[in-house]
Amino acid sequence: MGLNLGDIVPDFKAESTMGTIKFHEYINGSWAILLSHPSDFTPVCTSELGSLASRIHEFDRRGVKVIALSCNDVNSHREWLGDIESYCPETKVKYPIVADPSRDLAVRFGMLDPVEKDAAGMPLTCRACFVIGPDKRVRLSILYPASTGRNFSELVRVIDSLQLTDKFSVATPANWENGRKCMILPTISDEKAKEMFPKGFDTVKVPSGKAYIRLVEQPTL
Ligand code: BEZ
Repeated sequence: MGLNLGDIVPDFKAESTMGTIKFHEYINGSWAILLSHPSDFTPVCTSELGSLASRIHEFDRRGVKVIALSCNDVNSHREWLGDIESYCPETKVKYPIVADPSRDLAVRFGMLDPVEKDAAGMPLTCRACFVIGPDKRVRLSILYPASTGRNFSELVRVIDSLQLTDKFSVATPANWENGRKCMILPTISDEKAKEMFPKGFDTVKVPSGKAYIRLVEQPTL
């Protein structure tokens, strides 16, 4: 079973390093990001959770609640926290790591890696990322293999784009970064665009002669 964009994320109750989590209650009308990890005490996962902890203020500032998940039990997670915090000095892990030793959540969220197995032959999760909107719907889903650590700058960039494009009739082009020009949605007529963006916009000339690439300064949130 997998999750598609727009699906409501399944609710669950599970143990975590910060006590029992009821997922929908935890989200509680905020943006959220759920990140799965193959296993505790593995190098890439340790680097990821440390990096995430050191950047938690970037998620806080955007109103995004962070929740991690790994297939081990909560006692293992608690012991692992010491390693994560020692690997990233001056960093405290202030988000919960959910325990999923049964893989129940991994299956419900479609996060199992078809290849990776633990020493006992049990399947592990891949590095799944779900960005979840305040309405509990999946807004972004990316699956990375265990061998590739995630780029948290990219996740912050996508969250900026999602929050911006929810509010204004724009989309963000390739490699966009916060503060750069945006593109006016193709569904907006030129007349409407002039009303919406009174400071104006540039229409890029293309060989087809079609006026569909319209660049506008980023609206301010
Ligand atoms: C790691 O986090 O380093 C890792 C975990 C599972 C498989 C490969 C790498």
